[in-house]
Amino acid sequence: MASVSGLQGVRGAFVHAPLLGEVDFHPDALIAFDETGQIRHVDDARAEDSIQLASRLAEAGSLLTLDEGQVLLPGLIDLHVHAPQFPQMGTCLDLPLEDWLMKYTFPLEARYSDIAFAQHVYDLLVRELLAQGTTTAVYFATIHQDASLALARRCMELGQRAFVGKLSMDNPETCPDFYREAGASAGIASARAFIHAVGELTAASNGLVKPVITPRFLPSCTDDLLSGLGELTGVHGCHVQTHCSESDWEHGYGLQRFGATDTLTLERFGLLTDRTILAHCNFIDDEDIGRIRSVGAGVAHCPLSNIYFSHAVFASRRALEAGVDVGLGSDIAGGSSPSLIENMRMAIHVSRLLEDGVDHRLAKAERGREGARISSREAFWMATTAGGRALSEPIGLFREGYRFDAILMDARRPVFPGMPAGERGQGIELIDRLVYASHAQNIRKVWVDGRIVVDKGLAATAR
Ligand code: GUN
Ligand code: FE
Repeated sequence: MASVSGLQGVRGAFVHAPLLGEVDFHPDALIAFDETGQIRHVDDARAEDSIQLASRLAEAGSLLTLDEGQVLLPGLIDLHVHAPQFPQMGTCLDLPLEDWLMKYTFPLEARYSDIAFAQHVYDLLVRELLAQGTTTAVYFATIHQDASLALARRCMELGQRAFVGKLSMDNPETCPDFYREAGASAGIASARAFIHAVGELTAASNGLVKPVITPRFLPSCTDDLLSGLGELTGVHGCHVQTHCSESDWEHGYGLQRFGATDTLTLERFGLLTDRTILAHCNFIDDEDIGRIRSVGAGVAHCPLSNIYFSHAVFASRRALEAGVDVGLGSDIAGGSSPSLIENMRMAIHVSRLLEDGVDHRLAKAERGREGARISSREAFWMATTAGGRALSEPIGLFREGYRFDAILMDARRPVFPGMPAGERGQGIELIDRLVYASHAQNIRKVWVDGRIVVDKGLAATAR
């Protein structure tokens, strides 16, 4: 048991998902974490060492005791968000990906040369995501050094764990004149400078914010830029993020230009590592899955955005069964919701549509793909445990040595409407209801690295 000095504790129910497909529910536990945010104690509250620690924490005024009906969850991990696209969230979804980029998205992203605009949007976005229970976000920013740094700074100030990517894109054939880097060497220099600048910005912090090497996607980058970014990745060991085999057009573009699938091309350029997050992956084949699995890269499944841009449902069960770390991404603004709870639901819904098929004119046996569905347990695993695994960070679980990133849900309303205490279910039933029926209003408190970043008090949800 850890010494009490500098520790804070929470006593009450918690649930997390160490194993895919299972949930681990603890009705009365004590979790304690130190001043750096590291979890130092997790045990049943009635265990001898917990009883002693809890009484010392209570004496020191450092113990929070949850009400019956409240439950602690690991903070949600959004593996794919385009921060600059927040202003167009919920609009502009009428065109295919390649036209949407040209007509709406590149012009919007180009506006982030205006630092005041960037600061305004990024402040709103980081606050919104924290209120939605997103304790970790993996961001695409824009090609602008200053605005991307402003995003990193705001995440630090507001206390969100963040992986921030200054975008790299230089291909004159696919990027407009008003929004691309001056050339491959300028792009490489800019990515390198950003890594150093984030290092300086965060030197005094706990590693809460980290830089990500971010080739937008293969079509937007020249070969020279891709190789230079691959070399940078080797030198700095940074995380990498990009879009992968997202749509018919995008997947086909890669096949035609490189004669290989996106994952193989990324691997050849040194961009596929155990710290790479691949967004979408709808068109990956079994060899791609094997490659992602053996390298240890992660997938950001973005179920809401895929409805608009992908032309196919990501076969999440197939990738999960192959052992790939499939987490979730909101993909704002291809995705029209900032909520990972909403994206958990959507991941389940689209998997059900894939399993059953949707065209009633086909016979039932031909309509869908057998065994494609995922459950609420798997969706919860994706939003928490898988996110941590994909990033190779000690987050997503309540475990000694992990970071205390958590959300406190009040499960009484509307999740268990009118249910008397004692009949509200535990474990699987609790996760079913939280995933299917909760929303941001159920979140009472949010911690990142042991620090409270959203606090609505402990009172029952006012509606
Ligand atoms: N592919 C390249 N850029 C983008 C983007 O901004 N959003 C999505 N969904 N796909 C992309
Ligand atoms: Fe995206």
